[in-house]
Amino acid sequence: MKTVFIVGSGIMGSGIAQLCSQAGYEVRLMDNDQKMLGKAFKKIEWSLNKLEEKSLLKENAGDILTRIKIENTFENASDTDIVIEAAFENLKTKHDIFKELEHVCRPDAILGTNTSSIPITEIASILKNPQRFVGIHFFNPVHKMKLVEIIKGFATSDDTAQKTKEFVFSIGKEPVMVNCDSAGFIVNRINGMAFLEALQLLEKGVASVEDIDKAIRLGLGNPMGPFELMDLVGLDVVLNARMGIYNETRQPNHFPPGILKNMVKAGCLGRKTGKGFYEYK
Ligand SMILES: NC(=O)c1ccc[n+]([C@@H]2O[C@H](COP(=O)([O-])OP(=O)(O)OC[C@H]3O[C@@H](n4cnc5c(N)ncnc54)[C@H](O)[C@@H]3O)[C@@H](O)[C@H]2O)c1
Repeated sequence: MKTVFIVGSGIMGSGIAQLCSQAGYEVRLMDNDQKMLGKAFKKIEWSLNKLEEKSLLKENAGDILTRIKIENTFENASDTDIVIEAAFENLKTKHDIFKELEHVCRPDAILGTNTSSIPITEIASILKNPQRFVGIHFFNPVHKMKLVEIIKGFATSDDTAQKTKEFVFSIGKEPVMVNCDSAGFIVNRINGMAFLEALQLLEKGVASVEDIDKAIRLGLGNPMGPFELMDLVGLDVVLNARMGIYNETRQPNHFPPGILKNMVKAGCLGRKTGKGFYEYK
């Protein structure tokens, strides 16, 4: 594989683009919002320059950056080896994207989604060839988190899963295989319950945001508390993920508490909007 086409240049797409270009891939970073593309490119440039200052790059930042091309259509996905979609966490958005991509991409190109919670089988349901469709789930921040979950949908072929695994190793990450669709996969399924418990403790007035975070950092040795982590991930992303798991399992203990919904309605989405459980300048 030589070329990666990434859809969505937000938190995840921009991080994945930087990672792949650092690993030597030709990257096409596509977004339908020109402002987001501009922001993403500047962020990647800034981050590469910082790494260069610390002598953490194998080649110079300028050369790595020239491997990233920004795109506002799917046209140039025609010669890509693998697609990683990191657009909004919304089934219709993802269906619209993959309908176009299936048409444009080579028949042997792998189509991957970075969804946090939408079943892979459901996204692949609109494809003529769902065998080449796979979940490739990165963690935030992409440059720091070593893990990538590879999720097989109902029709994903072993060959697609194997090639995706090799790709993940090639960009310096560690894959785990999720052998069948399961809402939240592994990490979000387990960690999501910790988020819900933290929100319920807050709603009941058992402890403050700061003290719950402190308890988890100092008591469990986690680098971040649940509220710090939700602010980093984005409260809209957390809510969508929780609703996805609830809708699939229908287990009441997966239903997100009111405080999370209200904060999302109020636009308090965490770091990306400057306000979540904490304020950011
Ligand atoms: N934020 C996280 O911590 C995290 C972690 C793992 C996975 N994910 C998943 O990754 C995906 C992206 O999340 P994010 O946090 O980077 O979102 P984000 O809101 O930061 O970025 C999404 C980007 O997609 C673009 N976009 C939306 N519709 C598009 C379309 N039709 N065509 C092209 N571009 C489009 C938007 O303009 C935006 O720039 C979601 O599926 C999310 O669930 C997020």
